[in-house]
Amino acid sequence: LQDFEVQNEPVLGYRAGSRERAELVTELQRTADVTEEVPIVIGDEYIKDGEPRYQVMPHDHGRKLAKYYYASDKMIQKAIQVSSDAQKRWDRTPLEKRLRIWQVAAEMMAGEHRQRLNAATMLGQSKSVVQAEIDSAAELIDFFRFNIFFLKENAKYQPISESPSVTRNSLRFRGLDGFVAAISPFNFTAIGGNLAYTPALMGNAVIWKPSDTALLSNWRIFNIMREAGLPAGVVNFVPADGPTFGRNITSSPQLAGVNFTGSVPTFNWLWNEVGKNLQNYKNYPRLIGECGGKNYHFIHPTADVQSVVTSTIRSAFEYCGQKCSACSRMYLPRSLADPIKQGLLEERAKLKIGNPTDFKIFAGAVIDDKAFARITGYIKNAKNNPKNTILGGGEFDDRKGYFVQPTIIETVDPLDKLMVEEIFGPVLTIYVYEDKDLSKALALVGSSTKFALTGAVFASDKKFLQTALEELKMTAGNFYINDKSTGSVVGQQPFGGGRMSGTNDKAGGPNYVMRWTTPQSIKETF
Ligand code: ALA
Repeated sequence: LQDFEVQNEPVLGYRAGSRERAELVTELQRTADVTEEVPIVIGDEYIKDGEPRYQVMPHDHGRKLAKYYYASDKMIQKAIQVSSDAQKRWDRTPLEKRLRIWQVAAEMMAGEHRQRLNAATMLGQSKSVVQAEIDSAAELIDFFRFNIFFLKENAKYQPISESPSVTRNSLRFRGLDGFVAAISPFNFTAIGGNLAYTPALMGNAVIWKPSDTALLSNWRIFNIMREAGLPAGVVNFVPADGPTFGRNITSSPQLAGVNFTGSVPTFNWLWNEVGKNLQNYKNYPRLIGECGGKNYHFIHPTADVQSVVTSTIRSAFEYCGQKCSACSRMYLPRSLADPIKQGLLEERAKLKIGNPTDFKIFAGAVIDDKAFARITGYIKNAKNNPKNTILGGGEFDDRKGYFVQPTIIETVDPLDKLMVEEIFGPVLTIYVYEDKDLSKALALVGSSTKFALTGAVFASDKKFLQTALEELKMTAGNFYINDKSTGSVVGQQPFGGGRMSGTNDKAGGPNYVMRWTTPQSIKETF
């Protein structure tokens, strides 16, 4: 590991007749044929107890993919005890040994386990093959490899010794004293892997509450890590009811950190609970959250129409707009409004929505009944609001799967809730501004919502781009110029946002690993 070099994992093409395609088809079949039983894992105990629950396929919700159970209060308390004990042993494990486990796991994910992860992501989270490959293959592997690299790079820095012959100064990275709770979302398998295993890499013990709707893919990551050599108890796999889990972890004196991706209300709730319990903790728990966005594409009159159209279709509708980075509001100048709207409508009409095991589809179903109700609620309201016009799409059907057609709405109100609230579905809202009101329109981007995750500006006018960089500085943690607001790559565009979008700790960047250590300065005098 001395000369560990790092590169992004290549994304495979899955062309007809390719080896990866044949392997994936076999794995999809195997995964779909059984309802895998997924236990709760606490230390070396595998528990299948309580009322059975099911993860279904969103595009075919009569089919059960996995059977699982919720941990009870008692089990969560046990996990707290087991992980707090495991932490002390694990933190003593030499760094090189820990890094080796991550490296072995990354090779397993890149090799023989790649299609098992992709199949679980496609069937369970309704991702197209392209979207699964960039998530449960490439990004997951990248998180594992780059975090090894970042840790090694950070560890290279050692403080200067004033008189090397009499004193030596050093910095050692200790894990946090207690346990870390990782609470991960459904929309990226890779995020689950990062939230649970990066704290673990840094010497922490983790209680991982995966999302119910990403259970199987997350379970497969857990198993790869055990097979790669991660000792029992370092990461505990604890599916649970959200409030039950939240109450148990925040009321434990051992809580050392929360690594969260999910909604603003849930993160706010966790933060409040931590505040209420502050006097009981051993440490100030680290709170890291990524909480969504209301991401924008802002179009200047000098933008290239074709590139705006292609980028916006991809950003708004890939994975049914269920990326926290997805574009959901668009500001269009009157002078380009007609050709861009026309282009968007033509491209939208070509998008095929369906079962992700059909390699020709563009996107699958939205994740579950709650998402379907929320998204279609916004569409129904828009149909009844005279300020809004449905330009394309607007249809939905949940008889077999939770299908919502990509929908483009135009509003005359830049503060309409379609322009302000996170919908988390395939709904793009356009507001057309008059060219002479460019500055006013630019000001709306930051003033109309509290989110600040991703955003993009499209222009060829260099002077405008300089203005946008300044005026929109605080409106996005990931800012794109002439490119879509989605698709950050580990090590290339570290990801995260500020304001109500989260604590902006930049997953996939060099500082993320440092959030999971409590370093110790040592001065030795000879
Ligand atoms: N990191 C993901 C993206 O940028 C969410 O699309």
